Parts: sequence; structure tokens; C-alpha cells
Amino acid sequence: MVDRSNIIWHHALITRSARQKMNGHRSLVVWFTGLSGSGKSTLSHAVEQRLHEIGCRTLVLDGDNVRHGLCGDLGFSEDDRSENIRRIGEMAKLLTEAGVITLTAFISPFRADRLRARELFAPEDFVEAYCRCPLEVCEGRDVKGMYRRARAGEIPDFTGISSPYEEPITPDLTVDTGRLSLEQCVDQVIACLKDRGVLPPP
Ligand code: ADX
Repeated sequence: MVDRSNIIWHHALITRSARQKMNGHRSLVVWFTGLSGSGKSTLSHAVEQRLHEIGCRTLVLDGDNVRHGLCGDLGFSEDDRSENIRRIGEMAKLLTEAGVITLTAFISPFRADRLRARELFAPEDFVEAYCRCPLEVCEGRDVKGMYRRARAGEIPDFTGISSPYEEPITPDLTVDTGRLSLEQCVDQVIACLKDRGVLPPP
């Protein structure tokens, strides 16, 4: 553990609440979790588009992208996935402080890692959104051809094939991405944000 006793927190002059007021909406994180191919990225970008249209400040953090930069040094071992999710949790926290509605799209397969991310936030600021889609459906779609390669033994530790996915037990929101249309899924997320008082009055 690094010694942080000589590092003292500097308080910002511009607060989160001032930023939220300027934005005209509250900030929070919607933490999408689910198998590869379950629709996390598609859904988070579609939700972002809907929010952008009504004037909200948003950002999507997406596994496939973040792993090219901030998390470019990480692979898919349990330790690396944990570190990936830890960094994303911290990043989402910073963005939430900046008044941004943050949408994260990571498999985040381990309950303990998702819980650790949740614990960075006040309860009203963290929505765990489970993109529920059976493995057969994700594998059938195989948009990136990765399931086929994982079955052939070409990709080790592949989630759902050779590495576990721990389903959320009590997610804040379950979206049946394997069964519903994209529009229906987006509607469900937007309704949840309205319930939480995140969106500005129409
Ligand atoms: S996580 O487990 O650490 O949350 P993350 O969401 O960042 O994963 O990255 C998942 C993406 O990386 C998948 O959508 C897939 O395209 C790609 N990928 C490459 N190797 C693997 C693997 N072994 N397991 C899962 N996804 C992988």
C-alpha cells in the first residue's frame, strides 16, 4: 500500500451541485454489466443519444475503447479485470463530480468488483443495469467473431466460455437485451433516470 499521509485533499471551489445547476440536471453513473455481445455498448450509446437530444451532458466509457488507452496495459486475468473495473469506477466518480451523466459499458464479470465500484457512490448516484442476454444469444450473434475463436481455444479466459460471469443478484435495473428491441431497452433506462429525478423537467 502506498503511503498517502503526506497527500492532502484540495477542495474545489466549484462544487458538483454548482455544475449540476448549470447543466440543468443531476449527474450519476449507469453501470451496464453483461456478457460480451449482450448489447451494453449499443444500449449505452443509444441512451446517450437520447439524453444528448434533450440537452444532457453525458459520456460513455466503453470497455473496447478504454482498453486502448487508460487501461491499455491490462489483459483479461481476474486481477487485470479487477484493476480495469477499479479504474473505471474512479473515472466514473470524477465524471459524476463534473456533473456528467456517465454510462459505463464493461462486462465487469465479478460481483466484488461491481460492489467496490458501487461503494464509491452515494446510493442514489449508482444504477447497476444488467443487460440480460443468454449466452446462446450472445454467441449466436457473435458480432466480433470472438466466441468462435474462444471456442476454438484461440482466446483464453473468455467470459462465458472459459472465464466466469457472475450475474447481478439485485441489480437496480434489468434490461432484457436478448428479447426486447433497442428502443424498448432505451425507454426502460430513460424511465429509470426519470424515476431517480435525474432528467430536467420537459
Ligand atoms: S472486463 O471483464 O474487464 O469488464 P471489458 O468490458 O473491459 O472486460 O472488455 C471486454 C471486451 O474485450 C469484449 O467485448 C471483447 O470484445 C474483448 N475481449 C478480448 N478478450 C476477451 C476475453 N478474454 N474475455 C472477454 N472479452 C474479451
